[in-house]
Amino acid sequence: MNNRQARLFAIGSTAAAAILFLGMTFDSHRQFPELTNSENITPEVEHGKDVWHKYNCINCHTLFGEGAYYAPDLTKITQHRGDAYLKAYMRDPSKFYDESKHRRLMPQQNLAEDEIDDLISFLGWVSEVDNQDWPPRPILVTGGISQASTQGGSGQLTQSETDSTTPVDSGSDPRALGERLFSTAVPTCAACHSLTPGADGAGPSLGGIVTRTEKLLASGDYSGEASTVEEYLHESIVAPSAYLVPGEMYSAGGTSFMPNTYSDNLTDEQIDQLVAFLATLK
Ligand code: HEC
Ligand code: HEC
Repeated sequence: MNNRQARLFAIGSTAAAAILFLGMTFDSHRQFPELTNSENITPEVEHGKDVWHKYNCINCHTLFGEGAYYAPDLTKITQHRGDAYLKAYMRDPSKFYDESKHRRLMPQQNLAEDEIDDLISFLGWVSEVDNQDWPPRPILVTGGISQASTQGGSGQLTQSETDSTTPVDSGSDPRALGERLFSTAVPTCAACHSLTPGADGAGPSLGGIVTRTEKLLASGDYSGEASTVEEYLHESIVAPSAYLVPGEMYSAGGTSFMPNTYSDNLTDEQIDQLVAFLATLK
C-alpha cells in the first residue's frame, strides 16, 4: 500500500464508520416512540414525572436501573403490586414495615392524593416502556418480611425461599402447572407471597396455608363464603376482599391490597391449577 492508498483507506473507513454510526443513531431515534409507547404519555403521566422529581424519589430508588441503590428498583413496580397497595404504601410507608426489623426505611413523603394518583400513572407508563430486559432481574422488596427468614436483613425474597416447596412432577399435572403460574401470573404471586412459613412479605407467607385455613374455617373468625380449604383458596384469588387476613399492611377500609384482577386475567382452569398447587402447602 503506498501513501495515497493508505490515505484513501483511512478516509474511506472513517467515512464508513461515521455513516454506520449515524445510521444506528437515526434508527434508535426512529424506534423511540414505539419503544417508549409515547402515545400513552398523558398529562397525568407527565405530572407524575414532575412529582417524582419534586420529591427526589431517585435519591433512593432506581428506574431502568438508574438512580440510587438504597431502595428497590421501581421500573416494573405497578406490575408487581396493585393500585390499592401502592396508594396505601405512598400514603404511609411506615405501616408496611417495622422499624425494629428493617434497616432501610422509606420516609413519609406527605404526598397529596392527586400526586399519588399521578405517580402511579407515571410508574404505570414506565412499566410499559420496552426496556429490553434492563435491569435483568426485577429487584423486589418485601414491605415487611420477617427478620428470621432474611439473613442480613436486606428484606428481599431470595430464589431459595420461592423454591422451597416440595417439588411436584411437571408435565400436565395441575399442581405443577399451578406452581409455574405462581411465578408467571401477572402480577406474579411470588412478588408478594413467600412459601417459607413465617416469611411474610407484601402478602402473608403461603407456607402452611392448608393447616392455617383448616384452623380458620373451624374458628368462627372466618366471614367469607367458603366451607372447604379449596374453596377458601379459590376465593382468596378471585375475591381477595371477601375475607381479609388481619394486618394493617394487608388491607385498608375493607379492601385487600392483593390485586383483584386475577378473575379477569386468569382462566378458570388456571385458577384451579393455582388452587391445586396451594393445596399441597400443608
Ligand atoms: C430516603 C429514601 C427514599 C425516598 C426519598 C423514597 N423512597 Fe420509596 N422506598 C424506600 C425504601 C428503603 C423502600 C423499601 C422499604 C422496605 O423494604 O420495606 C421503599 C419502598 C417504596 C415502594 C414499595 C416498593 C415495594 O416493592 O413494595 C414504593 C412504591 C416507593 N418506595 C415509592 C417511592 C416514591 C414514589 C418516592 C418519591 C415520592 C419514594 N419512594 C421516595 C426509600 C425511599
Ligand atoms: C400485590 C401483592 C399481592 C399479589 C401480587 C398477590 N397477593 Fe395474595 N395476598 C396479598 C395480601 C396483602 C393478602 C392478605 C389480605 C387478604 O386477605 O386479601 C393476600 C392473601 C392471599 C391468600 C390468603 C392467605 C391467608 O393467609 O389466608 C392467598 C391464598 C393468596 N393471597 C394467594 C395469591 C395468589 C395465588 C396470587 C397470584 C395469583 C397472589 N396471592 C398474588 C397480596 C398479594
